[in-house]
Amino acid sequence: MVSYFYTMQTKGPIGVFDSGYGGLTVLKEIVQQLPQYNYMYLGDNARAPYGTRSFESVYQYTLQSVRWLFQQGCPLVILACNTASAKALRTIQQNDLPQLDPHKRVLGVIRPTSETVGNSTKSKQIGILATNGTVQSNSYILEIEKFFPDIKVYQQACPMWVPLIENNEYEADGADYFVEKYIQELLQQSPEIDTFLLACTHYPLLLNKIKKHTPSHINIITQGSIVAKSLEDYLQRHPELENLCLQENSNISFFTTDATEFFDVQATKFFGKNIHSTHVQLINQKEE
Ligand code: DGL
Repeated sequence: MVSYFYTMQTKGPIGVFDSGYGGLTVLKEIVQQLPQYNYMYLGDNARAPYGTRSFESVYQYTLQSVRWLFQQGCPLVILACNTASAKALRTIQQNDLPQLDPHKRVLGVIRPTSETVGNSTKSKQIGILATNGTVQSNSYILEIEKFFPDIKVYQQACPMWVPLIENNEYEADGADYFVEKYIQELLQQSPEIDTFLLACTHYPLLLNKIKKHTPSHINIITQGSIVAKSLEDYLQRHPELENLCLQENSNISFFTTDATEFFDVQATKFFGKNIHSTHVQLINQKEE
């Protein structure tokens, strides 16, 4: 069995997964910092948003996506989605990976963000802005506690922000109402908060509006560069995996579970460059 897995280890792209478009804000930073690798992006747009879905749905959808990226040859998959990282990562790492392929790796965005976010606060009070799913999981409270036990973490679910972004309304005047509302609700929990973490990979698209409604003394942290730096460190510490990701020409391919025409237009806004995607139908292995 072991030798079977060893013979299967071939070079392949780094997989980057998100429920939809949000992971493109992370991929953009990763490609800037680590242009030497190939990347394969998968957005499960047909089933997005994940933020309001149950644990079981997010886990099953994420597992199908990871399995598909592994089948395309990715030795490493980044869950560039906080909701998937909060609800599916641990189970996939502990229960599924040993059967799927123990030499492949799946990483999330919550741990690397939690390791560094505490360095930005002087008041030792951080506000997390995230989807319902991420907030309900309490993942940030639990993870930040491990690295910064003296920091108090407040959370605010922002269920209207992803729909505003996915429906291309993030620059519209109407978006201000919901941006201001959730920021005010977070600050009502504690006026001492001096750091906001945008703990959803969609939210950088709303950054201008978020800045407009945030008091100027508050730091606003986005995740892209943190995740990219953490990936760089991880690959340095795992040279055997790094070697599998290195290829002669760097190339990025994009896949979506929904219609490509719409994806390409929207995704270009998140990624900042023209995107031409391919449609993919994910199959539930239990139904095969
Ligand atoms: N981009 C996802 C995240 O980081 C949320 C979007 C969704 O709800 O699907 O949590």
